[in-house]
Amino acid sequence: MSRKIIIDTDPGQDDAVAILLALASPELDVLALTAVAGNVPLPLTQKNARTIVELANRDTPVYAGCDAPLARKLVTAEHVHGRSGLDGIPLSDPTHPLQPEHAVDYLIDTLRAHPSGSITLCPLGPLTNIATAFQRAPDIVPKVAEIVLMGGGYFEGGNITPAAEFNIYVDPDAADIVFKSGVPLVVMPLDVTHKALTSRAWVEGMRSLGTPVGQAVASWTDFFERFDTAKYGSEGAPLHDPCVIAYLLEPALFHGRHINVEIETSSPLTLGMTVADWWRVTGREPNAMFMGSVDREGFYRLLTERLGRL
Ligand code: BDR
Ligand code: CA
Repeated sequence: MSRKIIIDTDPGQDDAVAILLALASPELDVLALTAVAGNVPLPLTQKNARTIVELANRDTPVYAGCDAPLARKLVTAEHVHGRSGLDGIPLSDPTHPLQPEHAVDYLIDTLRAHPSGSITLCPLGPLTNIATAFQRAPDIVPKVAEIVLMGGGYFEGGNITPAAEFNIYVDPDAADIVFKSGVPLVVMPLDVTHKALTSRAWVEGMRSLGTPVGQAVASWTDFFERFDTAKYGSEGAPLHDPCVIAYLLEPALFHGRHINVEIETSSPLTLGMTVADWWRVTGREPNAMFMGSVDREGFYRLLTERLGRL
């Protein structure tokens, strides 16, 4: 039986690769994509989500959610992802429709309609939609099987400020709600994703698939690689969000620790920091499986094999 998931996302080239990986994998039943404002504003993230579904030749429903963080002004990342959020290859406007229901209502209705423990949430952007649903309908919280998310960083520090990773920084109040919710969490922080660097051979391998998906993945990766290479001095670019989906497919690719992780919501200096008790120096209850490493070769082998199916 396949595992039911909902991908909450702000595409984003690396979100796009994650979504394609999920749609290519029969072990996963992607019930819907819920779009949130993040890398670019909501009108673009919901449109990009529909473009990606169409590229994969699927009809997964797409819902638009929150257009701004719970209590702050939206911060976006066009400097990484380009003006469209999916710069790198020209793609025509999608005809795949946007669902009329708000993503938060969809999350609430769907979790209520399913038995407890049957749906896993996969957030790849700021946690605004998930936190709003939890606040509005606390009865759905114990129904979530697990949340596997990309966000945070500890040993790697931050990528939008010295202390904070982008997804958590954009809506730290939402992250705080999710991290305190009691739902089992698996976190893919920068400590992992900065080890999941693309290689030239892998990008060229994608291009040589000769499919629209292969072309798009190679071009997207080339686009944001120029930014990451300049910023980190690394050879490739980190494919952050696909780590979430790869974990669902092959958890043994990742290693981490079950620890306490709290979110800084007030300090101007470290706002959005994931304060991870990696060394277990506090008595605070563990609330998250915080990953620290990935088998890079295995991760890219999985991506190549699955994306080749689309
Ligand atoms: C995260 O921020 C976004 O720019 C990426 O899509 C990823 O989800 C990495 O910090
Ligand atoms: Ca993302």
